[in-house]
Amino acid sequence: MSVNVSFFGNMPDGKEVRLFTIKNSNGIILQVITLGATLQALYTPDKYGRVNDITVGFDSLYGHLNFTDYQGKVVGRYANRIANGSFMMNGKKVQLTQNEKGKTCLHSAGEFSNAVWDAEPVGDNAVVLSYTSPDGASGFDGKMDAKVKYTLTEDNKVEIEYSAVSDKDTVINFTNHTYFNLSGSAMSDVLGHVLKLNAKKFTPTDEDSIPTGQLRSVFNTPFDFTNPTSIGKRIHDRDAQLVMCRGYDHNFCLDHVDGEADAVVYEPVSGRQLKVYTDLPGVQLYTGNFLDGTIIGKGGIPLIQHAGFCLETQYYPDTPNHPDFPQCTFKAGEEYKSKTTFEINVF
Ligand code: BGC
Repeated sequence: MSVNVSFFGNMPDGKEVRLFTIKNSNGIILQVITLGATLQALYTPDKYGRVNDITVGFDSLYGHLNFTDYQGKVVGRYANRIANGSFMMNGKKVQLTQNEKGKTCLHSAGEFSNAVWDAEPVGDNAVVLSYTSPDGASGFDGKMDAKVKYTLTEDNKVEIEYSAVSDKDTVINFTNHTYFNLSGSAMSDVLGHVLKLNAKKFTPTDEDSIPTGQLRSVFNTPFDFTNPTSIGKRIHDRDAQLVMCRGYDHNFCLDHVDGEADAVVYEPVSGRQLKVYTDLPGVQLYTGNFLDGTIIGKGGIPLIQHAGFCLETQYYPDTPNHPDFPQCTFKAGEEYKSKTTFEINVF
């Protein structure tokens, strides 16, 4: 195996963005760029041995800077939304940047995703990226040192390990926002992909995509992926939650079944399968609902609605305002650690 480092582009202020390329001996290639600690590409063979990139995003820095909807990016320090951009911490109100409709805080206003991280290769199959977020950034308390390690293994796994420490009490919730299309191209949408999600409950949302607080059973709803079901089978149902979000954009409460992946996605034409494992309590299934063909992705292909799906492993959205959800408040000096693995197979 090997890790290669090359130039990817220059930021508007001249800062260099680097590209790390890691290959294993089965023909899998993982690429990571230092802007946003982004998973830039993941090349994998299909059932005929043809190698394609199974991520949807941009070929160059220009796309990442001008069109991004978080394609491939690491999101922190708090992924997804916080209602009214505020919550209480140690009896004091924390007011965050309200970057969505002037109301909610989405993806911490992009701070970690838009930063150029430091990075260095580790051994012959990993890269570690680090970023320090200043105290008060996007309104969060505490200077935070964060690290993300990407490893490609010989058994075709991409492991993403996150760690972070803040010098003040704060909430911490990292994710990776890769859009996958297992067909190997964004020419067709992902509605024919078959998904199994080990989640008997999900968190329905209000009109601002904030969880209502209910943990709703998926049974007899279009949210039931406990048996393998195509993403498109019920996506156009007249279900109030689906209509409001134009598709799936919901957090599922993971059951963490011993010996099983938390999510499995299969694309029948290419034969590619993606398994997702995480130690986090939730995953956001987002089916690229707001893509509408106006932004141009890799290979000059317009990103149409549902061109990719995301499985963003996470604490539930708006956790700081829901004492009943699994909590993600970390004390000053207390380490946040988590791991998500994407495993690639072909059948
Ligand atoms: C959110 C979507 C949002 C997308 C891109 C997802 O995590 O749940 O609502 O459109 O990220 O920002």
